[in-house]
Amino acid sequence: MNQIIFFDTTLRDGEQSPGASLTSSAKLTIARQLEKLKVDVIEAGFPVASEDDAYAVSLIGKELKNCVVCALARCVVRDIEIALRSLEKARKPRLHLFLATSEIHRKYKLSKAKDEIIKIARDMVKFAKNFIDDIEFSPEDATRTEPDFLLEVCKTVVEQGVKTLNIPDTVGYAVPEEYGNLIKFLRDNLPKTVILSVHCHNDLGLAVANSLAAIKNGARQVECTINGIGERAGNASLEEIAMNLVVRKGYYNAEIGIDTRQIYRTSKLVSSLTGIPVQPNKAIVGDNAFRHEAGIHQDGILKYRETYEIMHPKMVGIPESKLVLGKHSGRHALKIRLESLGISPDEDSLNRIFQQFKKLADRKKEINDLDLIALAEQETMPVSSEPIYTLEYFHILSGTTTVPSATVRIKKKGQVFEDASLGDGPIDALYKAIDRIVKLSPKLEEYRISAVTGGKDAQGEVTVALTIDKARVVGKGVSTDIIEASAKAYISAINQYFAKKGIKKRKYRGA
Ligand code: KIV
Ligand code: ZN
Repeated sequence: MNQIIFFDTTLRDGEQSPGASLTSSAKLTIARQLEKLKVDVIEAGFPVASEDDAYAVSLIGKELKNCVVCALARCVVRDIEIALRSLEKARKPRLHLFLATSEIHRKYKLSKAKDEIIKIARDMVKFAKNFIDDIEFSPEDATRTEPDFLLEVCKTVVEQGVKTLNIPDTVGYAVPEEYGNLIKFLRDNLPKTVILSVHCHNDLGLAVANSLAAIKNGARQVECTINGIGERAGNASLEEIAMNLVVRKGYYNAEIGIDTRQIYRTSKLVSSLTGIPVQPNKAIVGDNAFRHEAGIHQDGILKYRETYEIMHPKMVGIPESKLVLGKHSGRHALKIRLESLGISPDEDSLNRIFQQFKKLADRKKEINDLDLIALAEQETMPVSSEPIYTLEYFHILSGTTTVPSATVRIKKKGQVFEDASLGDGPIDALYKAIDRIVKLSPKLEEYRISAVTGGKDAQGEVTVALTIDKARVVGKGVSTDIIEASAKAYISAINQYFAKKGIKKRKYRGA
């Protein structure tokens, strides 16, 4: 049996998704969940890219106990030094070096000949090896590199002590059979001690298929992201690869350490914090992934589940939407139910979730698992610091014959501020009133509303993305009142902005 190493790059390549931008504390929240999911390696960032990224890598490295924490660097001394500094406190640090090798990149991007590429790769691995043992190397655009030259680069870095060789399909150009053959060619010609890794992009919709073909041909590490987010069309999706290896275990003959019951929660959390929704028909985690619409299918499912289902939703941690708690349920019952959903809050968090639960129970008679997940998510949303602004009160006037207006009261560290505004609609008026209080003019890039569960009393979940001073921030709010959810989401995004700004100001000096 072959143990597959899961290398999650949600926090690095995933964060390169258009529109996704995570604060360091949001990254830490996701990293904690990735550890619960039992991924083996977390690529936490590209430290030279920004101080916030370097800070995030250091925070994650300092806190995580089981996962290898990895930082990305180009084959440039300054990149390597900054990456190593951010990994200083990590229990299991890894440096991931990359250098483009394809003809098109050599000629147009780097203006370097083949022998220069070999020299840079050799020198930089040798340099880094003085400071860190676990080094991964990626010949960028490997799938468009001449195979013999690719092998030469790989042999060079392996001689210098690289332990994991990652073969990226950087532009999503490969097809499964061809990619599988490339992995086999490298496997046959490189020392068996080297771990071959794969990293596929989804430009032609083949990222998962290519990764699986590579596993079939000797790859031992797979690089992927939650929900398949990433640069352009994204990366290979972790949950799809994991469930292929579980459901078709007999075919792939591979073991995984992933706790698949944490998949759904992780997917929801990543979607919340990045503001990138999951398409309804997305395999494994989409809303429709386990829904049966056709009468014949429903009939089959009722008679014998396996007629139309190859895996049970429970395997990926999708809660069964049964009614669980109500107004009279106590704190203990809530704790037990949360634990059964894989959520183990500490005492303080549990108390806050319980307060929110009671408030919700006053408005909504039946509280089910999806409601509870939404409440718990609210608790994990906040980040490093206490939120600066909190909503105290709002009042809205709106109707077909009224000019919409909003009055809002917000608390800022004990002080209360109130203002009012007119608007094109109630949300516009609300947001303008908030802008007046916080003295900012955010650009509203996205506003999305969805229902957490079915029913007229469902909680509304609002996600907003704002641009403030060129920084993109995402906020989320949940309430049975959609205007309140909208206000909470907007204020949460503004709090994210201040958290981000605070981190930029802090001079980064290692963990
Ligand atoms: O797609 C790619 O080539 C990458 C490398 C940095 C591994 O993300
Ligand atoms: Zn990539």
